[in-house]
Amino acid sequence: MANEVLGDARAAKKDEFYTQYEDIQKEVNAYLEYDPDVFRGKTVLLPCDDPEWSNFTLFFAQNFENFGLKKLISTSYAADSKPEDIPYQLTLFETEDPQYNAEKTRSHGKIFMLTKDTNGSGKIDINDLEWEYLAGDGDFRSDEVKALRDEADIIVTNPPFSLFREFLAWIIEADKKFLIIGNQNAITYKDVFPLMKENKMWMGESIHSGDREFRVPQSYPLLAAGSRVDDKGNKYIRVKGVRWFTNIEHGRRHQPLSLMTMADNLKFSRHKEVRETGYIRYANYDAIEVPYTDAIPSDYDGEMGVPITFLDKYNPDQFEIIGSSRWIGRPMSEIAPKGSYVSGGVRFYVPIDNDVIMDNAQTVRQTDRQTDRQTA
Ligand SMILES: C[S@@+](CC[C@H](N)C(=O)[O-])C[C@H]1O[C@@H](n2cnc3c(N)ncnc32)[C@H](O)[C@@H]1O
Repeated sequence: MANEVLGDARAAKKDEFYTQYEDIQKEVNAYLEYDPDVFRGKTVLLPCDDPEWSNFTLFFAQNFENFGLKKLISTSYAADSKPEDIPYQLTLFETEDPQYNAEKTRSHGKIFMLTKDTNGSGKIDINDLEWEYLAGDGDFRSDEVKALRDEADIIVTNPPFSLFREFLAWIIEADKKFLIIGNQNAITYKDVFPLMKENKMWMGESIHSGDREFRVPQSYPLLAAGSRVDDKGNKYIRVKGVRWFTNIEHGRRHQPLSLMTMADNLKFSRHKEVRETGYIRYANYDAIEVPYTDAIPSDYDGEMGVPITFLDKYNPDQFEIIGSSRWIGRPMSEIAPKGSYVSGGVRFYVPIDNDVIMDNAQTVRQTDRQTDRQTA
């Protein structure tokens, strides 16, 4: 149900989903655990934000000294440019500032910057944020925000769902470190999968399954199961398939998956399907089908088709990603006996005997088979 809502959100270009503080904290902590100096001396840019109430801005501003940041920049997108008509909320922070401009507040983006102790409190924190209106609307594709991107070392945000691919390409072209939120289905996009395969991008640490709750504007309908209103009247929607995507190192990425041998899987796997059917060779690609990540046989040298969720556990020291069935699996029309397929696509083939067709799988190979990893 929540998935349907996200589908609708994409179709209707609903992009106003605000990330929870704990989700940001949990994820960022993983990078700090791996490298406590990951942010030291760095300029962090938070684009596509609403700095007055964003938890990204709050979190990084509160930890400015703690992380040893050099500069924090966050930018917002003008209300008039948003494809949705969301009732506009002014903050006292803005209206009580001498810079406040009743026109620009709707038509211009804003930039918030934190670099020094402006109020003489003896520490740098959220109260030292300085802001002004941007010259344009804050679109991440504008020259103005591109210049901020180029200045930054690390880019962190939950970009608009409807522009995920474009946003990722915008980061990659500038060759920056990043930590962003997206949907796990993005992995199968033709411009995203190669980044995963070449280890230029990987999944974050903290979200592997289930759904995550995002705050949404008051005007959004709460149709999904699990949506709620808190005691202050704020609305929340749970979204399935959410993942962090990054190119910053974290520890989970280097933990080897603990696996059983093929013989042990056939006897002891917790999946009945593996015990009863074993590992079948695909009809349209030279690899075996491994329906569950924990059923990968530790002693198998060849290529294996694994589900998309494998990428949550992917350790590049242990596995090599070879490809995706979307591009390397042969169409069944080329190989199936006459009459056994309905059309050229993989999905329209009528399986015969014990046939397995590679569809919706990634193929991988183990790079460091080690018997001491096996847990028989
Ligand atoms: C998914 S929300 C996330 C907001 C915030 N980063 C957070 O997580 O709390 C994406 C935000 O990007 C804004 N946005 C949409 N199109 C944009 C664009 N072309 N350039 C910059 N921001 C955009 C949306 O209005 C929305 O506020």
